[in-house]
Amino acid sequence: MTEDAYISIRNVDKYFGKFQAVDDVTIDIGQGEFFSLLGSSGCGKTTLLRMLAGFENPTHGEIYIDGQPMSDVPPHHRPVNMVFQNYAIFPHLNVRDNIAYGLRKHKLPKAKRYEMVDEMLDLIKLPDYGDRRANELSGGQRQRIALARALILRPKVLLLDEPLGALDKQLREQMQLELRQLQRTVGITFVFVTHDQEEALTLSDRIAVMSEGRVLQLDTPSGLYERPHSRQVASFIGTMNFFEASVKGVQGEKVDISVRGLGDIAARTTGQSLAEGEKVQVAVRPEKFVLTADQPGTPSSSVPGIVETSAYLGERSHFFIRLEGLDQTVAVSAQNSAGTQAFGDGSKPVWLSWTEDSLVLLPPE
Ligand SMILES: Nc1ncnc2c1ncn2[C@@H]1O[C@H](COP(=O)(O)OP(=O)(O)OP(=O)(O)O)[C@@H](O)[C@H]1O
Ligand SMILES: [Mg+2]
Repeated sequence: MTEDAYISIRNVDKYFGKFQAVDDVTIDIGQGEFFSLLGSSGCGKTTLLRMLAGFENPTHGEIYIDGQPMSDVPPHHRPVNMVFQNYAIFPHLNVRDNIAYGLRKHKLPKAKRYEMVDEMLDLIKLPDYGDRRANELSGGQRQRIALARALILRPKVLLLDEPLGALDKQLREQMQLELRQLQRTVGITFVFVTHDQEEALTLSDRIAVMSEGRVLQLDTPSGLYERPHSRQVASFIGTMNFFEASVKGVQGEKVDISVRGLGDIAARTTGQSLAEGEKVQVAVRPEKFVLTADQPGTPSSSVPGIVETSAYLGERSHFFIRLEGLDQTVAVSAQNSAGTQAFGDGSKPVWLSWTEDSLVLLPPE
């Protein structure tokens, strides 16, 4: 276990009968960290969260919180609280009593309880809502009440299972900011489950990308975006162009590669050792390509192409560009400025250029 890990998940497997829902997961989470589990439906996110909460036990492996093994610790003795996706607040109780519900087992004087509730109402920015009935609230307000109910116990860890899933886009984005602020203010460790990559990127200090019960990559948002380790992660986070390539020569970090569609070009490895003749994939984000009307100065890192389709999105435009020797078009995203619109009609060739550090080398498919 790493010294400064507050939560340590060690080689955890979870089987339901013969079906393996979680496969050898090892994750360390620091105190006060906003940590997200990101992955498509059925990849094991909720199962992992439920094991942290103590509602399920790992089949193999161990979970430590604050240095203590959790295997014999029941849910109500763990320093965690969980906010479920289908936030259950009691419609017949008012807001104050809903939030105070979490305190029912703590024998506190009424005045103290109300004081704590008022503090929470301020925190979730609903100070005048104490007497409102829960069924007279909007979805976003209800979600905040559910959060307050979990936070009032001051858990060291808050487990959030797609807490914003039921909200519309606008409210969701507003709540994301509030959630992040809230987490910073109270300094609680958050383990946040989502299948929305944008949400995970916006909120998290670090993210574990999961698939079929396994962690594919654990990294910071920019690490996942800029340096994905596999095609699966690269295409799960944002849009990525992939090109087949083979290694021509290697000199330390510098490699000469022959890339279908882009030609013979120079690239750099990011740690992996490559050999001459080896097949690789080159991955490039749409915004890393630069479009120009004329051939740029460095011909070794540019190719001509034809704009096949384009989409105007206000601030940016997306272009799909046909290159010689490639079946699929290349996606390019460019900030709109005077001149970029002229690329859209496809009547003249455009030039696509890039820098070495915008190319990510990945293992072949
Ligand atoms: N109690 C259970 N018994 C049998 N199988 C289960 C049980 N709970 C979960 N599973 C299976 O384990 C896998 C992982 O489920 P889990 O709920 O963890 O997925 P998830 O990543 O949270 O998905 P979603 O995004 O849809 O909520 C799924 O295939 C699910 O059917
Ligand atoms: Mg789930």
